Amino acid sequence: MRTKIIAGNWKMNNDKKATAILIEQLEENLQNTNGRLIIAPPFTHLEQSVALTKGSKLEVAAQNMHQAISGAFTGEIAAPMLQSINVRTVILGHSERRTYFNETNHALAEKVQTALDYDMDVIFCFGEVLSERKEGKHFETVKQQLEEALFGLEAAAWKKIILAYEPVWAIGTGETASPEQAQEMHAYIRQVIASKYGAQVANTVSILYGGSVKPSNAADIFQQKDVDGGLIGGAALKAEDFLAIAKAI
Ligand code: PGA
Repeated sequence: MRTKIIAGNWKMNNDKKATAILIEQLEENLQNTNGRLIIAPPFTHLEQSVALTKGSKLEVAAQNMHQAISGAFTGEIAAPMLQSINVRTVILGHSERRTYFNETNHALAEKVQTALDYDMDVIFCFGEVLSERKEGKHFETVKQQLEEALFGLEAAAWKKIILAYEPVWAIGTGETASPEQAQEMHAYIRQVIASKYGAQVANTVSILYGGSVKPSNAADIFQQKDVDGGLIGGAALKAEDFLAIAKAI
């Protein structure tokens, strides 16, 4: 059985007060939610969020971190810092990090290894851009992203990896992959992993779908047999919507 996971990527949204309000609204309504429920607030609110979710099923993740563990990297955050405030999960490779901050698969391979060295779970994001899909290169792109960033890992490390397939053309655009497109790609991803690591790893890794998931489309996407949950952006900023999505899994 694969773990079902709903993760909310808050991106660069919510000040301290709004963070407290949103967490309180979530905390009050967690009944009937299944699987793991994760929120990823901005760095400045992580410690506060960990404190506010203490003892609850809501988990807190960071949206990024540097591959080095300390040093002269102005503006960056390292794994031991996250560990020291009890943040045990990190999102890596989000398309906005790849696009605006030039993160490469090579750098991501290092980031993933550092996160694992600190015993963190990794939500690894990847997915094709629109032109790649139009040219029929989406499978090739996804395979390359997996190979370059993750295929240096030992099989045992995959216990700490959560995959998030996010077609870039569907992120924040209101346009979602159809349930069939999501299923087709998720099945392909599992097959690529199986050919490198075998069926056991491929069948146990959770693969989330991300890209304009909302209460109205979540159930259809989550019904697909290789979709194990969602990485939610915009809809994670409203407690009611995030909870509705969490209940659709
Ligand atoms: P979206 O973002 O749900 O707003 O499309 C998803 C993501 O960026 O993870």
